[in-house]
Amino acid sequence: MSYHNLRVEKREGIAYITINRPEKLNALNGETVAELEQAAIEVKNDAAVRAVIITGQGEKAFVAGADINELARQTPGDGAQTAQRGQRIFAMLENLGKPVIAAINGFALGGGCELALACTVRIASTNAKLGQPEIKLGIIPGYGGTQRLPRLVGKGIAQELLLSGKHISAEEAYRIGLVNRVVPPAELMATAESMAREFISHSPVTLRYCIEAVNKGLEMTLEEGCYLEATLFGLVCASEDMREGTQAFIDKRKPEFKGK
Ligand code: COA
Repeated sequence: MSYHNLRVEKREGIAYITINRPEKLNALNGETVAELEQAAIEVKNDAAVRAVIITGQGEKAFVAGADINELARQTPGDGAQTAQRGQRIFAMLENLGKPVIAAINGFALGGGCELALACTVRIASTNAKLGQPEIKLGIIPGYGGTQRLPRLVGKGIAQELLLSGKHISAEEAYRIGLVNRVVPPAELMATAESMAREFISHSPVTLRYCIEAVNKGLEMTLEEGCYLEATLFGLVCASEDMREGTQAFIDKRKPEFKGK
């Protein structure tokens, strides 16, 4: 698969998706969103890919939002369609069945913050700035920001960010739980890789069900979510990896998971 606005590389079980429009601060135009969908399908279907790291090209931006030049031309009909298409693609990334790590190397604004929110976890470099500035453009977020942000940081703080449109520092994002870690720019990719390697040292079966239990469970009542958890727990008990993991503990050795 060849891409114009993305780079997709694969090394040692990790796929790296780099948004590559640095001259426009990696803003998501229609072509880039379409390529993101292709890349999501590619890494989802590639069993050799165990985890994904998403980042932006250059030192300045992760993604500075949806492309405002295209946004300015939206009509009511195609505005709704554009939002639904982006939401579908971000939901695919969220539910890829493998950990997706956002390595936020600079501005993560609007659609960029929403892309990071759809990832499983987020690591920010100290120079990152995050926010949902759509309100300043006379619009609201359209790629899931009004939904995922309050689920992650709580309703009150989300409303403040959404209604002010302000940019916040990486440290502030860490304080409110919007990012998992903050590291110097030079350590960003190594930290993301080390987290990816830690995750993928475990069985892919358990990673998939764990991500599913959290993502789907958060949309349910506690009782329904616990029922889902019990069902998925039953399923992992049918896996060879469960036998291997528990036996390895008893044998005092490292488990060798096979993904079965
Ligand atoms: N859409 C389209 N182009 C964008 C963009 C976006 N979301 N964000 C940045 N760019 C472009 C700029 O137009 C500029 O292009 P040009 O050189 O052809 O004029 C280039 O990227 C560099 O951006 P610039 O604004 O010159 O950089 P800066 O360092 O002065 O400011 C930001 C950086 C991120 C503060 C500023 O670019 C910005 O506010 N961007 C929009 C953020 C936003 O509102 N995102 C949500 C969209 S829904």
